[in-house]
Amino acid sequence: MKALRGPLGSIVELLSKRKAPKPPPIEVRRFAGPAAFQSALDGIRVAHLTDLHVGRVTPLAVQREAVALANGAEPDLTVITGDFVCHSQKYLDELTAVISELKSPVLCVLGNHDHWSGAEAVRKALRKGGAEVLDNAHTTLTLRHQRLQVVGLDDAYTGHADREKALKGLRADLPTLGLSHIAEEADALWAAGVPLVLSGHTHAGQVTVAKLHELSIGRIAGHKYVHGLYGDRGTTGAVYVGAGVGAAIIPLRVGERGRREVTLFELGAAVGSFDEHHTEQRALPGRKPSKRATARRARMGRNKAS
Ligand SMILES: [Fe+2]
Repeated sequence: MKALRGPLGSIVELLSKRKAPKPPPIEVRRFAGPAAFQSALDGIRVAHLTDLHVGRVTPLAVQREAVALANGAEPDLTVITGDFVCHSQKYLDELTAVISELKSPVLCVLGNHDHWSGAEAVRKALRKGGAEVLDNAHTTLTLRHQRLQVVGLDDAYTGHADREKALKGLRADLPTLGLSHIAEEADALWAAGVPLVLSGHTHAGQVTVAKLHELSIGRIAGHKYVHGLYGDRGTTGAVYVGAGVGAAIIPLRVGERGRREVTLFELGAAVGSFDEHHTEQRALPGRKPSKRATARRARMGRNKAS
């Protein structure tokens, strides 16, 4: 094509020299599943999203980008581990629209913000979008002619998790994936035969430079699991804490670990069969919440939660 001359040519030249647009603000991280799945599953991909916080703090375009990234990976299943809303029920129609854009089957559990904003209304919006909500329950799916059992705990932060109820009738002969908004619930799920638990809640601390997230989420908030993979996929069991997509208060995210995230789990794949973002990390000491804190967290949604 002939080069343009004159003022128009200068504008075209100027535009072509502009910096390339920023890369999408969402990281896609990929991990193998636990060793226990290798004999039972082959080529099952699960996309994990968490903490969408659909509302005024997180632009809808970000939610749509996360959904597009998940869909682009062509997962067999998408799981979402809570905190769909923040502070209100004003954006439930938008939540339904976002969820309905996911192309694979969707399973999810609720988080603390969902209870504080009105759990039943959030459940209704999720179901309307085509998702199944696991409230201390389990289900079995057939994906690529293979059976995967998924157990979901309701939110432990607000005192709604009921492990006994969730595990009742769980089959020991099927590979089982766990979902819990609060990652610390994984310890007991491992012992019940759930070798991989996916979770959220921490947003990876959002600010992770100079390991600030380990101070804020670990030392101050008392979490053992702050962001990423912990435990052992070969023996005891593992938990993954997703960095999340949205935010409830401020959208600020600084540092590589704190970026918005879509995570892919290749169930049936061996650890080491492809490059992973990181390997299992050591848990922080953690601290159980005081009775006062537990009561306050449960009280916050009492007038709205079902
Ligand atoms: Fe959250």
